[in-house]
Amino acid sequence: MQTLIKNIKELVQVETGQPKLRTQGKEMAQVETVKDAYLLVEDGTIKAFGPMSGWKAESGKWKVDKEVDATGRMVFPSFCDSHTHLVYANSRETEFVDKIRGLSYEEIAKRGGGILNSAKATAAASEDELYDMARQRLDEAMRLGTGAIEIKSGYGLTTESELKLLRVIRRLKENSPMTIKSNFLGAHGIPMEYRGRQEDYVDLVINDMLPCVADEGLADFIDVFCDQGFFTVADTERILEAGIKRGLRPKIHANEMAVSGGVQVGVKYGAISVDHLEQMGDAEIECLKGSDTMPTILPGCAFFLGLPLSPARQMIEAGLPVAMASDYNPGTSPSFNMQLILSMACIRYRLTPEEALNATTLNTAYAMGVSHELGTIAVGKRANFFISKPMPSYAYMPYAYGENKVERAFINGQEI
Ligand code: NIG
Ligand code: FE
Repeated sequence: MQTLIKNIKELVQVETGQPKLRTQGKEMAQVETVKDAYLLVEDGTIKAFGPMSGWKAESGKWKVDKEVDATGRMVFPSFCDSHTHLVYANSRETEFVDKIRGLSYEEIAKRGGGILNSAKATAAASEDELYDMARQRLDEAMRLGTGAIEIKSGYGLTTESELKLLRVIRRLKENSPMTIKSNFLGAHGIPMEYRGRQEDYVDLVINDMLPCVADEGLADFIDVFCDQGFFTVADTERILEAGIKRGLRPKIHANEMAVSGGVQVGVKYGAISVDHLEQMGDAEIECLKGSDTMPTILPGCAFFLGLPLSPARQMIEAGLPVAMASDYNPGTSPSFNMQLILSMACIRYRLTPEEALNATTLNTAYAMGVSHELGTIAVGKRANFFISKPMPSYAYMPYAYGENKVERAFINGQEI
């Protein structure tokens, strides 16, 4: 099955040489494009692309089944959203109002709200109910241009409930065309009954939850909320060591509330990414240099909670890569709209449109271990892309914030 997208005003983020696995420092400002372009897809992968003037010569080689005319429109690779908590039961707008009235996120958490509030509702929901809610969210994210997503557990906090969440993620993987990675976040919050004896909860995560998760093959990654008021560096080390033994690569929630040591512990254990990073010092930036760990900023969370902005420019100027994901969850970032994250990258973090595109596609693909097959337009990669609404230039994409600029989305070459 061959599909031709023709007369594309500009095909954005192409790679003509050896595709990169991630982009960092000054390189992040580079985005290659082809104007007046075609894109040919065969059986779900990108087969060829180039200027329309070259298509005439090429066309004899191919037997195109379907043509899509993209006159006036741009084609972009789909967003990769490398950090979400998409499976949960209840929204939390009551806490949203509490926050407006002056309570902090940590105060709400201390009195049993926050993650524990979601855990209670999630425990009461059936696997089917959770699946149906999550599937709707996933489908909407696809329509907004997301083509790959990482989903965490973490609203279970009991073995039974964590497994339920991870089984929902497995069903999403089986039934959705989207590329999905699953992340076991048993260490997301400390249940009330474990207050004052947190080590016992860590024991439960390591000795009870993790063996079940690993035996059922339910997770690709293991995560810990390593932060002030949540899990300590020592807790994190124990959990990561156990997870790595079970074949799970770490991804860490680090430095949201405080300079927590989360970045250092992530780098030490070879985390694929350390995420949040609202609280960063020079030592954290230094520590990330030369590592394989992707620093991942979550602009939606900082926006929603009014947190300090992660020093994205400083990181890029230090030669680091930067990724930006949605952190979609009911407590700190109730939006999975990656178009909005792209805009925030430019507006709030002063990334150029090129840097912002790299941060939300190739670098997030890296942060979920799929950048060899997603994140840019390159021959042999999966055909996950979208056709924009008519627009004057690709900078319009982050510029016109709040508006849906995706007209038609394709996953594995199929329009969704
Ligand atoms: O990434 N920071 C920790 N976890 C989530 C929030 C979870 C919640 O409040 O429900 C986050 O922001
Ligand atoms: Fe998160």
